[in-house]
Amino acid sequence: MDGSSASTETPIRTKERFLVFGAPAIEEEDIAEVVASMRSGWLGTGPKVARFERDFAAYVNASHAAAVNSCTAALHLALLSCGLKPGDEVITTALTFCATVNAIIHAGAVPVLADVDPMTMNIDPVDVARRITPRTRAILPVHFAGRPCAMDEIAALAAKHDLKLIEDCAHAIETEYHGRKAGTFGDFGCFSFYVTKNVVTGEGGMVVAQSAEDIAHIKVLALHGMSKDAWKRFSDEGYKHYQVVEAGFKYNMMDIQAAIGIHQLERVEAYWKRRLAVWKRYDEVFADLPVVRPAPFEPETRHALHLYTLLVDEAACRVSRDAFLNNMTAHNVGVGVHYMSIAEHPYYQQTYGWRPEQWPHAMRVGRQTVSIPLSAKLEAADVEDVILAVRASLGAARA
Ligand SMILES: Cc1ncc(COP(=O)(O)O)c(C=O)c1O
Repeated sequence: MDGSSASTETPIRTKERFLVFGAPAIEEEDIAEVVASMRSGWLGTGPKVARFERDFAAYVNASHAAAVNSCTAALHLALLSCGLKPGDEVITTALTFCATVNAIIHAGAVPVLADVDPMTMNIDPVDVARRITPRTRAILPVHFAGRPCAMDEIAALAAKHDLKLIEDCAHAIETEYHGRKAGTFGDFGCFSFYVTKNVVTGEGGMVVAQSAEDIAHIKVLALHGMSKDAWKRFSDEGYKHYQVVEAGFKYNMMDIQAAIGIHQLERVEAYWKRRLAVWKRYDEVFADLPVVRPAPFEPETRHALHLYTLLVDEAACRVSRDAFLNNMTAHNVGVGVHYMSIAEHPYYQQTYGWRPEQWPHAMRVGRQTVSIPLSAKLEAADVEDVILAVRASLGAARA
């Protein structure tokens, strides 16, 4: 198998029916809610954002929530709220999206990477413990693919060393660990509503926190550092002066974005169940293939089922990961890579002198991983096409 099987075969799907990876499931009620926002003329931060914050906080059992325009913004503000000083270190995973690490850098701190557990692909608490120094101020675990990190161990480390704990829950809206929702273990939980996520607002994010003061501060930082919400400024209660109390950012969520998310959130459990059925089907039909499937769910946890990943080891599969990606695309099935390990990227290599080999598990996973479609939008026939495309891309029999 030279990795070029797809070019000589009839594609599983036609180009016109290319299956977009991570396509969002948009329903008529989402569209109607957006149209209602537009008709009302209230496009910016307003009542729909307030409702989305309340509904989201209720869903994840958080005391307080602030909607922002991305998870990147959420992470940035959460980190800034920790009062980091130059030279302070924040420990995060070597296998994440660049936004996690960039947010640490933009908050003025030094990112320190810990390797992942090769089975769960989540940050390894043993490696976190090894990397704690007198300059460590925070730990930033990422619930990778929607699988909860080992929060008992991580929270214990944070408590022992008096560190802030910020959870990157970009993949983890439905995630639970030992009966508790992801995002509620530490000081802040940061969520994403980007188009491929389990609940979408186009672009969007949310910070949840245990403390009302923390969320009030995040809201000020998210809107230029102004002391009063702009949307209250122009209300019928009369014009109110605002004061700039710190140099903030323009990170607020718009009502149009919240309008997309309100009904998505109402369907979050129904969508989770649909993805669970797809997950189980993939698990079953890929059992005979030489790829590595996701590890079984840990007891007393709930996986958010955001990404279904296959590891393509070239020696075992006789096709390279990148050839597999190309073959899937040639079969007109969209795929993703989550992620090349952080240390593969030139910026971090040049700035911090990092080499991928320093985090061997993250490096290997990053070089072998492929995410296949797992959206609630998938029809049964789409799922069967993905399965056929995976088998064909590996040069395996179709049966
Ligand atoms: C793990 C992780 N963290 C952070 C982000 C950033 O989210 P956003 O695109 O909402 O800024 C993403 C986005 O894909 C992500 O996957």
